[in-house]
Amino acid sequence: MWFPRVSLLLLAVAAVRGDDSIDAAEQVPASSSNSSAALFQAETVQLTNLSLQSVVDNNQLNSSDAALFDFADGNLAKRGLFTRSSAACKTGPGDTWWPSSTIWQIFDLLLGGALVKPPPIGAVCFNDPFGVYNAQSCSDVINSWTDSTLHVDHPTSIMNPLMQGLTCKPELGPNGQCTTGGYPVYVVNAQSVYHVQLAVNLARNLNIRLVVKNTGHDFAGKSTGADALSIRTHQLKNIKYYAKYQDSHYQGAAFKLGAGVQASELYAAANAKGVDVVGGEGKTVGVAGGYMLGGGHSPLSSLYGMAVDQVISMELVTPDGRFVTANRDSNPDLFWGLCGGGGSTYGIVTSVLVKAYPKLNKYSTAAFSFATTDSVTADDFYNALNLYMRAAPDYTDNGEYHYWFVLPTGPGSFMFLMQAWFAPGVGQDVLQSRVEPVLDKIRAVGIDVEATYAEYTDFYSMWQATFPLEAVGSDNAITTGRLLPRENFLNETRWDETFSVLRWTSETVGSLVFGFTIRGSPSNGVYPDNGVNPAWRNSSMHAMTGIQWDQDITPAARSAQASYLTNTIMAKWRATCPNSGSYMSEGDPNEPNWQQSFFGSKYPKLYQLKQKWDPTGLLYANRAVGSENWYIKGQDPNIAMQNGRLCKA
Ligand SMILES: Cc1cc2nc3c(=O)[nH]c(=O)nc-3n(C[C@H](O)[C@H](O)[C@H](O)COP(=O)(O)OP(=O)(O)OC[C@H]3O[C@@H](n4cnc5c(N)ncnc54)[C@H](O)[C@@H]3O)c2cc1C
Ligand SMILES: *[C@@H]1O[C@H](CO)[C@@H](O)[C@H](O)[C@H]1NC(C)=O
Ligand SMILES: *[C@@H]1O[C@H](CO)[C@@H](O)[C@H](O)[C@H]1NC(C)=O
Ligand SMILES: *[C@@H]1O[C@H](CO)[C@@H](O)[C@H](O)[C@H]1NC(C)=O
Ligand SMILES: *[C@@H]1O[C@H](CO)[C@@H](O)[C@H](O)[C@H]1NC(C)=O
Ligand SMILES: *[C@@H]1O[C@H](CO)[C@@H](O)[C@H](O)[C@H]1NC(C)=O
Repeated sequence: MWFPRVSLLLLAVAAVRGDDSIDAAEQVPASSSNSSAALFQAETVQLTNLSLQSVVDNNQLNSSDAALFDFADGNLAKRGLFTRSSAACKTGPGDTWWPSSTIWQIFDLLLGGALVKPPPIGAVCFNDPFGVYNAQSCSDVINSWTDSTLHVDHPTSIMNPLMQGLTCKPELGPNGQCTTGGYPVYVVNAQSVYHVQLAVNLARNLNIRLVVKNTGHDFAGKSTGADALSIRTHQLKNIKYYAKYQDSHYQGAAFKLGAGVQASELYAAANAKGVDVVGGEGKTVGVAGGYMLGGGHSPLSSLYGMAVDQVISMELVTPDGRFVTANRDSNPDLFWGLCGGGGSTYGIVTSVLVKAYPKLNKYSTAAFSFATTDSVTADDFYNALNLYMRAAPDYTDNGEYHYWFVLPTGPGSFMFLMQAWFAPGVGQDVLQSRVEPVLDKIRAVGIDVEATYAEYTDFYSMWQATFPLEAVGSDNAITTGRLLPRENFLNETRWDETFSVLRWTSETVGSLVFGFTIRGSPSNGVYPDNGVNPAWRNSSMHAMTGIQWDQDITPAARSAQASYLTNTIMAKWRATCPNSGSYMSEGDPNEPNWQQSFFGSKYPKLYQLKQKWDPTGLLYANRAVGSENWYIKGQDPNIAMQNGRLCKA
């Protein structure tokens, strides 16, 4: 039990039941999904009209308390007592409608103890006000700060601390200030659909800001929010393999994945079954959460398309509190929007069913680097880079995926690192015959370059050897990117313009330029109609950059740096391909005209679906569909920090 004080009434309730909970859940049949895959056990535990009424009938809750947890169409809530959605701002602590401690206790009893009120991750470094100072824990947090697992494992921490508002920086303890800032106040560690439904209904009925956190990788602060109740999906870890799944649209191998499954877990499971799945490059990124809902790019995307293109069916809790199946037959409009419309938009997904592919025979990689030296000038360096980059459409036509970095290493010096030139389905000999001609051109510029090659018999060992755990947690940088379309590479004039902008960003601004040579559509050209940003379909490169500033910069100067990235650097990038877009899950938290950039021509339909499925705006996230109807009080105009009050625009 989290709460220090438990009311006599509740103690009495608990005593009568002999435990610390009020069970309002109903066990539904595993076959009640509208897909051909059975529900996970965690999905069969649900809140229903009858189960909620039963705790009232048993005198465990009176009807006004129970009404707080009722569905949008429920009898109890229908009385209109809790329809607060007309208020100008979401309900925050101190407001009349913010739940009393007794209500939070009742909520925790209904959840069987799954409610927590976590201090910020940095609170262990401060004497006040959370009272959890601990020198050892503090140095552990500081030392592990760049390790994504630290933030995944914490109920509220996220990997882009800037979005939280930097209100509890561990380095500023023990006598400095630490406040909750942009972190949620309460978190439900969801272990069942029932837990998710209770949280959705409470937040909707009282107009409380609702946040969903899976791993916390999101760049744009979409998994955090001030004054919020958060649903944490991390513990929904089930994985089930179907060797022969069958419905009227798909026959073949499939995986059903709980919302909390991470890439490394899925890849290990797929390897054990001898199949391939489309997941991210990052080790600790989620699969079924924001990654997939936002599209999801993968080392296998140039071959099989985006991760979300693989989805057969999803189970989710919609903003009205109901549990539904979304697929091509059941709620097909919702399914269309969920597949690419982004996280935290149409509901809280509890599982996804995705296609698996027969494994390939071979997976090959190449790695190389080159740099400016006494004899390699900056011109030579950028000429060589140009020679590699301009053939991007050829590489992606081969189904390849490359991950590379252009690093400024000092005044006038630069290094190119091809971390992974990945070719699925071919051996090292074939890959060599593709890479060496490119390296020969680079050698002709006068640069000595040698590649190291490797060949694997399964995707999993390739992935483990090739993609190290990436550092996260920086609070003095913002990154963004642009999906560079095929036509930018094929038209010589256009390519020259594009490359000169990339070179200017690297050479003159001095920013890191990095990215992926990737196409977001399969090699057979066939992909489903869904909410994915159409810019992915013609992409040959997902190029990224960012801006970094000194740690001791003033907030005003920091804001100016962010604006420089958004409005100066990226304006040049956008001008090279105005009709293309940017990847919402790795984009600028302050992207201007984001509806066009992140969603393209899909936006009007996505917005219409938002009004249909979430009419009161229960789910808000920075630059998610429908977020233009809200604003955050006191927000820096150039950095979308989440530590202010969420209000209606
Ligand atoms: C180190 C690193 C590596 C990355 N590698 C890749 C990569 O290879 N390919 C790629 O495409 N992207 C990659 N990304 C970007 C990644 O896709 C996004 O950060 C994405 O938002 C992560 O989703 P998540 O669910 O793990 O994270 P979270 O930050 O927890 O969630 C992201 C968003 O989805 C929402 N959400 C989460 N779960 C659910 C759910 N069950 N139902 C509804 N909404 C939900 C959240 O509310 C939030 O809005 C990487 C990011 C990092 C930091
Ligand atoms: C319901 O119970 C709560 C205590 O949890 C109490 O404050 C409230 O007055 C009760 N309402 C009714 C209508 O009895
Ligand atoms: C739940 O009860 C409400 C009110 O009686 C009713 O409108 C609704 O259809 C019921 N929903 C389900 C799924 O039983
Ligand atoms: C399944 O489909 C039926 C008929 O359309 C619908 O009544 C039911 O609510 C759906 N169940 C789920 C879980 O989506
Ligand atoms: C190539 O790009 C230039 C500059 O964007 C444009 O003016 C020209 O029309 C393009 N040529 C073709 C053949 O598309
Ligand atoms: C891809 O590019 C072609 C040629 O420029 C264009 O006609 C088509 O509309 C683009 N497709 C998408 C999905 O944007």
